[in-house]
Amino acid sequence: MSAEPPAEALAQLTWLRTPEGATATARAADLLAGGADLLTGLARLRAEVGAEHAGPAWELARLRARARPVFGADADVLYLTADTLEQAGRPQLAARRAVRLLGGHADSAVDLGCAAGTDTVALARAGARVLAVDRDPLARELTAANAEALGVADDVWVTAGDAVELVDGARGGEVAGCAAAVLDPARRAGGRRQLDPDRWSPPWSTVAALLERAPRSVVKVAPGLDHDRVPAGVEAEWVSAGGSIVEALLWGRAVSAVWRRASLVRDGEVLELTAGEDPGPAPVGPVRGWLHEPDPSVIRSGLVSLAAADLDATLVDPTIAYLTSDAPAGSPWVTSYRVDEVLPFNLKKLKALLRARGIGRVVVKKRGSAIEPEQLARALRGPGDGTAVVVVTRVAGRPTTLVCAVT
Ligand SMILES: C[S@@+](CC[C@H](N)C(=O)[O-])C[C@H]1O[C@@H](n2cnc3c(N)ncnc32)[C@H](O)[C@@H]1O
Repeated sequence: MSAEPPAEALAQLTWLRTPEGATATARAADLLAGGADLLTGLARLRAEVGAEHAGPAWELARLRARARPVFGADADVLYLTADTLEQAGRPQLAARRAVRLLGGHADSAVDLGCAAGTDTVALARAGARVLAVDRDPLARELTAANAEALGVADDVWVTAGDAVELVDGARGGEVAGCAAAVLDPARRAGGRRQLDPDRWSPPWSTVAALLERAPRSVVKVAPGLDHDRVPAGVEAEWVSAGGSIVEALLWGRAVSAVWRRASLVRDGEVLELTAGEDPGPAPVGPVRGWLHEPDPSVIRSGLVSLAAADLDATLVDPTIAYLTSDAPAGSPWVTSYRVDEVLPFNLKKLKALLRARGIGRVVVKKRGSAIEPEQLARALRGPGDGTAVVVVTRVAGRPTTLVCAVT
């Protein structure tokens, strides 16, 4: 739908919401579940629902199937476009954010750029009356459709508006008369990630203004956001799942509780590591028997020294986020590897050492090195049956390789 001109995409959405549209989408979902490929599926659908409707029904069924692992059963009734699905946060995290934002103090919230409504729905489910704002008419229709499909339409008002103007007009800590605000700027344009926060939509100036004027607010930012951008008194949180950062947040001052927070989603639970102030860098020392790779949420939030103190560990280099200690760690915040060899980086010597140890397959990890891990792993492949983790990094400023056991 999203590649269509707006009027056409809106007309398709309107049809998809009719009983005929729902039947066609259910049929497309059946065909997909039965393993039909695009050509076969579309041909069947065309014959059954007409050429005009086959494409939109197929596309929606495909997007719902893609959304299911993250959105669960909600996905089966959601209205999505490829763009809004790509921009959507995880509903589990949107729910956590909504509960913390409202904090039992706010019963109204504005979602400044609602897209397909993930945050809007989460806020409504958390008990707020929600004003969902977007400048894109298709986004507004999708949010309205999803609020209805998920049974929260009575608490959601969808409206056209410019987030920049609404934040400029904030009064008494409220934006558009709402006690709480969520801002999730679009950080892609023309299919490309916008690394410069001044190029987000709305831009950084609106992010900063919101945090200043609306203390009960939360902004989703890029994981790579520079710490220097975080205003004083604003908590920054990095959330990871499965070894990657899944969201980074700045909390308005009424909600901020600490300086930085690292949050780790694991088995449906969220573990948290926090610091009230900058804990400073971890101490540096020689490589010992175990290497620990901190979770990205710990690294991004600047809390490596907390993890180090917990493990009685030191950094292998002042500029590299690898820790080392005498023992493996039972901590969720790091992955530990037993160090079997430490040698200066030298491909020939490394290959010879791996051969001598009967290691034919390696997983390469790197930090502070320009090597391509997959390329190096291929180059190190050999006849041996053994496996190892090869870490290429800097130790006390020197390019170094650590050969570690797979534990
Ligand atoms: C990243 S998406 C929001 C995603 C949403 N929070 C979710 O999880 O599904 C950003 C949205 O902001 C909207 N937007 C961008 N700039 C805006 C502005 N100045 N005023 C209103 N909406 C804006 C875009 O149209 C887009 O729908």
